[in-house]
Amino acid sequence: MAVLITGGAGFIGGNFVLDWLASHDEPVVNVDKLTYAGNLQTLASLQSDPRHIFVQADIGDGERIGTLLRQYQVRAVINFAAESHVDRSISGPGEFIQTNVVGTFRLLEAVRAYWSSLAEAEQAAFRFLHVSTDEVYGSLGACDAAFTEQHRYEPNSPYSASKAASDHLVRAWHHTYGLPVLTTNCSNNYGPYHFPEKLIPLVLLNALAGKPLPIYGDGQQVRDWLYVKDHCSAIRRVLEAGRLGETYNVGGWNEKTNLEVVQTLCDLLDEAQPRADGRSYREQIRFVKDRPGHDRRYAIDARKLERELGWKPQETFESGLKKTVKWYLHNTAWIEGVTSGSYRQWMQTQYQQDE
Ligand code: NAD
Ligand code: TYD
Repeated sequence: MAVLITGGAGFIGGNFVLDWLASHDEPVVNVDKLTYAGNLQTLASLQSDPRHIFVQADIGDGERIGTLLRQYQVRAVINFAAESHVDRSISGPGEFIQTNVVGTFRLLEAVRAYWSSLAEAEQAAFRFLHVSTDEVYGSLGACDAAFTEQHRYEPNSPYSASKAASDHLVRAWHHTYGLPVLTTNCSNNYGPYHFPEKLIPLVLLNALAGKPLPIYGDGQQVRDWLYVKDHCSAIRRVLEAGRLGETYNVGGWNEKTNLEVVQTLCDLLDEAQPRADGRSYREQIRFVKDRPGHDRRYAIDARKLERELGWKPQETFESGLKKTVKWYLHNTAWIEGVTSGSYRQWMQTQYQQDE
């Protein structure tokens, strides 16, 4: 028996695999296409661990997935694989439709074929957990109540629309075919192994390199932030005890404006690694052109997960951010590995910077 994880060389999937194998002996079959966002260096500590079976493959390759499911007698699939960056979805939405929509469909079909072939008891124990985002719910006004699981889907970016489509497919495969599914909708994650195209790692690395810290628009957009290890523990809990066909919101109760996040990061760096000239990293903040269709506010009501399954985040924003800053200061080899080639090209096109 094993669990099959897709997208396990990415940010959240990588953290999930590391955490899982730190506390379970059950093997992990890790299926990842290794796009620009996939990085095996994240999993370097598992190189000679027989419990980690890495397979480079596309979730859209149903035949390959079917073979792996049978070969390893998989009892649960956790689907992290996706194109995940909103800005990239604006400049090139095609890959988002391909992986997030078509890929999820093909994965569901491969899983359904396998699941249908299982004995009754194994079918009943089987789980397909789909990892999704709060962005499917759209954007909130300043005084609106946080998103509950009942909030209607109103995705605004190609990324969130493709994730919404995948959530609907997962829901339909449960209602129509009885596939035992669970869905989680989580807010913005941060923590170790976060690819530096996303706000927090991008700001940390730019700050240390003496580069501008780009804030889109007025910086008053609000996001809820959750430390990645807390997201991983929520997924483990939902996998273990979630009610079939249900969706669970996951959030950190940490609503912050982007400007607050960036200023806090600057303050933490001022303390941990002061600039040579003794001035604050805040001086590197620059307001730049806004993201088209930029959602103003996300906020997550995660009370269902707490009430039904007893899950709560362990980290506060302050404690999680401190750990994150420390991690980025101490893991220069990992950073060097991900900031080469294609990353430089992305930074140049997105921010018109000379690297
Ligand atoms: P990521 O971009 O860091 O990692 C995605 C991984 O999926 C990469 O390793 C990539 O190689 C792999 N992948 C992409 N296309 C693939 C395909 N066709 N077949 C197989 N593998 C493929 O993303 P992340 O931030 O780790 O997000 C993981 C999941 O969590 C996504 O589904 C995302 O929508 C969701 N999510 C992310 C956040 C966040 O803040 N990062 C918040 C809520 C939900
Ligand atoms: P991001 O990390 O891309 O996550 P998401 O778009 O999924 O929320 O962005 C977080 C917030 O930070 C979002 O409101 C956009 C903003 N942002 C900037 O202001 N500057 C940047 O350079 C980036 C990458 C994001």
